[in-house]
Amino acid sequence: MSETEPGPGSVTVGGLILANPLWLAPLAGVTTAPAREFFSRLGAGLTHTEMVSCAGLLQGNLKTQNMLNFLPKDKESGDFSDLLESPVVLQLFSGDADRMTRGAQAAVARLGPHRFAALGINMACPMPKVTRQGAGAALMKTPKTAFEMTRSLKRLGLPVWVKTRRLSEIPETLRFVDGLVEAGADNVCVHGRTPPQRYEGQADRQVVTWAAARFPGKISASGDVYAVEDIEEYLGMGCVGVMLARGALADPYLFPQALSALGYPIPLALKNPTREQRLEQLKRLGERARQFCGTRGAVVLIKRLMAGALKGTRGSRELRRRAGSTTDLNELLEVLKT
Ligand SMILES: Cc1cc2nc3c(=O)[nH]c(=O)nc-3n(C[C@H](O)[C@H](O)[C@H](O)COP(=O)(O)O)c2cc1C
Repeated sequence: MSETEPGPGSVTVGGLILANPLWLAPLAGVTTAPAREFFSRLGAGLTHTEMVSCAGLLQGNLKTQNMLNFLPKDKESGDFSDLLESPVVLQLFSGDADRMTRGAQAAVARLGPHRFAALGINMACPMPKVTRQGAGAALMKTPKTAFEMTRSLKRLGLPVWVKTRRLSEIPETLRFVDGLVEAGADNVCVHGRTPPQRYEGQADRQVVTWAAARFPGKISASGDVYAVEDIEEYLGMGCVGVMLARGALADPYLFPQALSALGYPIPLALKNPTREQRLEQLKRLGERARQFCGTRGAVVLIKRLMAGALKGTRGSRELRRRAGSTTDLNELLEVLKT
């Protein structure tokens, strides 16, 4: 949950005070407000929006603008807390520094200056539809633009977080990170795979270690985070935070379990949830997703997260089979009651 003063176990990082160093990585197509809320409740100390196009924001594209949305408070459950979500990084992409800055300004003007904890620049996405625009991982080939973008975004007054990847050569990677830090990046997340690797092969932890040693307090890690040991290794290497991506999808309860292993006080219902508690949390996710994106979007989101959320529980395969054949949210919620 968002904090304004350091609490026990909190980390001051990237210009922010966060409850812990375990964060939900940006996951396009997944990290909408209800999913962020779900992971925040499991303990994620920070989350990201989906990947938001600055060109889309400037053109007033409705789909893009909707990616900025948050959920209203949960009146039904009587939960009126303002802090349903942990701090959120607004993840932006553009191949042009001026467009990036104007897009960020438009987003901040739309939601107010306090909605997002930081402005994030995607310098990692290897997908052609993004790199073709000179954005995402393509920015690693145009460092001048990448640094100018960072400098320019920094002038807006919010912390700037950059997520990038390993380049083929380690010294080149470190020089790139160096330039980002010099340009004012408050946090640089390094994913130890090169853009051509996309999500294949093993993530290189060595390059992340070197970056963390060279820029103490500034580097967070992404890549092959599936178990408590992976998290402990990255933190032990000097990273200030670790981003959970496919590992969080495969098992959302990795958040509370890892936090508990790191010494954070975690309720048993999260650390070692019963099948009923897991089903209850999925049901709540479905109901919140319905409020956010309607029944179809809610069904897609539950189906995306249910295998991981029910992993290892009695009858989960059968439940997934039954859920798989339904496209109706009420029916799906009924299935989850059983
Ligand atoms: C479905 C999916 C969507 C992703 N979307 C983004 C994104 O929007 N921005 C980004 O920087 N990385 C994105 N990534 C990459 C992850 O944030 C992470 O860096 C990558 O999966 C490596 O971590 P892992 O090996 O622990 O999964 C995405 C990955 C997946 C699997």
